[in-house]
Amino acid sequence: MLSKEEAKKRIEELRKLIRHHDYLYYVLNKPEISDAEYDKLMLELKELEEKYPEFITPDSPTQRVGGFPAEEFKTVTHTKPMLSLDSAFTEEDIRRFDERVKRELGVESVEYVAEPKLDGLSVELVYENGVFVRGSTRGDGVNGEDVTENLKTIRAVPLRLREGRGVPSLLAVRGEVIMHIDDFEELNKQLIERGEEPLANPRNAAAGSLRRLDPRETAERPLDIFFYEILNIEGVEVDTQWDALNLLREWGLKVNRLIEKCSSIDDAIRYHGKMAEKREKLSYEIDGVVIKVDRLEYHEKLGIKARSPRWAIAYKFPPREEETEIVDIVVQVGRTGALTPVALLKPVDVTGVTVSRATLHNQDFIDQMDVRIGDKVKVARAGDVIPEVVKVLKEKRTGKEKKFHIPSRCPVCGSKVVKEGAFYRCTGGLACIAQLKRSIAHYASKGAMDIEGLGRKNVDLLVDSGLVRRLSDLYTLKKEDLLSLPRFAEKSAENLIEGIEKSKNQNLARFIYALGIPNVGEHMARVLAEHFKSLDNLMKASVEDLTSIHEVGPETAESIVSFFREKTNRDEIERMKKLGVRATVERVEKKKGLLDGKVFVFTGALKSFSREEAKSLVEELGGRAASSVSRNVDFVVVGENPGSKYDKAKKLGLKIIDEEEFKKMVGRS
Ligand code: IVH
Repeated sequence: MLSKEEAKKRIEELRKLIRHHDYLYYVLNKPEISDAEYDKLMLELKELEEKYPEFITPDSPTQRVGGFPAEEFKTVTHTKPMLSLDSAFTEEDIRRFDERVKRELGVESVEYVAEPKLDGLSVELVYENGVFVRGSTRGDGVNGEDVTENLKTIRAVPLRLREGRGVPSLLAVRGEVIMHIDDFEELNKQLIERGEEPLANPRNAAAGSLRRLDPRETAERPLDIFFYEILNIEGVEVDTQWDALNLLREWGLKVNRLIEKCSSIDDAIRYHGKMAEKREKLSYEIDGVVIKVDRLEYHEKLGIKARSPRWAIAYKFPPREEETEIVDIVVQVGRTGALTPVALLKPVDVTGVTVSRATLHNQDFIDQMDVRIGDKVKVARAGDVIPEVVKVLKEKRTGKEKKFHIPSRCPVCGSKVVKEGAFYRCTGGLACIAQLKRSIAHYASKGAMDIEGLGRKNVDLLVDSGLVRRLSDLYTLKKEDLLSLPRFAEKSAENLIEGIEKSKNQNLARFIYALGIPNVGEHMARVLAEHFKSLDNLMKASVEDLTSIHEVGPETAESIVSFFREKTNRDEIERMKKLGVRATVERVEKKKGLLDGKVFVFTGALKSFSREEAKSLVEELGGRAASSVSRNVDFVVVGENPGSKYDKAKKLGLKIIDEEEFKKMVGRS
C-alpha cells in the first residue's frame, strides 16, 4: 500500500512515463516498450487515480474519454482565420507562383518547404502553457465547431506538450485529422456487418468520426493527426516554417515524416513527382503537395488574397482514375421510390480503395455517355463523391455490349414506373419491398427514432421473413417472433424489442422526420414540431397554414399535405399511435415539475440512461441540465469514471449524488 504522498508521486511518475512512450510511439515512430507493458502502466495509473480522484487532472492520459455527449457543438472563433490554399495542377502554374513570389519580395531566390497535402479534416488546437485547452474544426474559416473532447480521444494528440526549447505560453496549431486506409476499410467492414451504411472514403470517415456528438463514439474510431502550421504563438521565437515544424515535433506534436526543405522551386517540383509515385504506398491519402515559402517574415510581406495566402500553394495530383469493366447495370430503389442506375464493376483498386460499384445517376447520363453493359470504362474516385464513370472506352468495344434502359416496371415489386423530370420513380409506395425496407431503416436511423439494433441487415431480415409488412408492424413484434429468425439470440432479441419500445417515447420532431415525408429533413421536422405542437395539428394543416411558417416553402408544404392525404399513411399513423407511439412535444406546457428550477450536471457514465436521456428527463420534470460545474448547480450526478467536474464539484462543496439517488429523484428507481 502506498501512502497518499507516495501515490501522488507515483501518479506523476506514471503520467510522465506514459507521455514519454506516447511521444516515442506517435511522434518518433520508435516505440521502446510493448503494447502490453504500456497497458500495464495505464492500468496502474487508472487504479491509483480511482483511489485518489483528488489527484485527477484534465491533462492526465486517463482523461482522454471523459466528455459529455453534446446536444450540438459550440461555436468557436479561431485565434486567426484558417485560410485555404490556391490549387495548381501543372508545373507551369508552379513556376508562375515562384516568379510572383520572387517579384513581390524583390529577391533572386526563395527557399521553400514542401509537404504532403493530407486529405482529411483541418482542425485548430490551442495549448495554453503547454496544456491542451481547446480544439475546433475549420468550419467557415473564421468560426468552427468546438470538438475539444473528441480531439482528446485521438492518441496522437498530446494533452500536454513536452518541454522543447521552452514551452510557449500560447500555441495555436493547425493540423489534419485523418483515417488510415486500412483502418477505414476495417471500419466499413464493421459498419456493413452491423447493417449500417458504409462511408464513402477515408476523409468522410475521418470527418464523420471526429464530429460525433458523443466523444465515446469518436474514441472508438481509429483517427490520427498530423500538424503542419503554427497559427499563433507566444513566448517562443520562430523564423521559418522548417523551424516551426521541428519545434512542433519537439513539443510532441506529430509532423509528417515526408516534409522536405527545398532550396529552389525546382526542388519542390521534383518533390511533387516523387510524392506522386510514393502516394500509392502510403497508408493514408494525399491529394497533392503543399509548397510553402520557408521564411515567415516573407509570409507577412506577401500577405493574403481573398481567403488564401500568397506564400503557399497546393500542387495537386491529377484525379485518380482506373480502367475497369461494367459487368452489369442494376437499378436501386430509394426510399421515396426514385430509381437510380448503378454500374456493377469488375473490382478495381483506385489509389488504395477498392471500387466495385459506380453511380450512373439517371437515364439521361446513360444516354449522353452511351454507357453499355460490358463496356470498358474509366472510373474516378474524386474527393468526397461516390465513384463515378468518367469515360467510356468506345474503341475497346467488341460489339457484344448491351444498351440499358430503366425498366417500365419496378425491378423489386413490379409496380409501374413513372418519369418525373430526369428521374424515374416506382409507384409501389410501401407495397414495394425496397421502399419499405429503406423507409424502415430511415425510421429507425439515428436522427430519426434511433432504434438500436435495427440496421439494414435486420430490416432486410424482418421484411424478408414477412414479420414486418408495414412500418407499424414493428410495434407488434414480440421476442418470440425474433427468436425464430437466424440472426437473433435471447439477448439480441431482447435488445431490439427494448429499442423499439423506447422509440415510443421519442419526441414529435423525430417522429415527423422519421416518417420520411419528401422534403422534410431533420431541421424542417423540428420547425414543424415547434409550430404545430402535435401530430394532429400538423395532419390537419393546409398548404396555406404551412407556407405561413417562415421556413416552409410551397414545395415542402405541398409534399406534407399530400403525404397526410394518403389514406395508407394516415392509417399507419393511427395504428402506430394505438400501439403506443406518443410522439409528443418535449417540455409541454410546463407541468408542475418535480425538479422545477433545479440545475443538474452529469459526469461519468450512467448505467441506466444515456446522457441525452438523463438530460431530457431532468428537463421534462422542469429542471435544467448544465454542461459545466458552477455555484449555480444544485446536483452533480456522478456515474462511472467521472471527469474533472467531479473534483470541481467537491471543491465547491456542491451536492453530489450517485445514479441510484438520481433515479429515485426522477421516479425511475
Ligand atoms: S497549410 C494557409 N499544409 O489542405 C495554409 N494545408 O485548402 C493553410 N492540408 O484546408 C494550410 N495538408 O486542410 C497546409 N501540409 C499541409 C496540408 C494542408 C493538407 C489541407 C488543409 C486545407 C487544405 C487546402
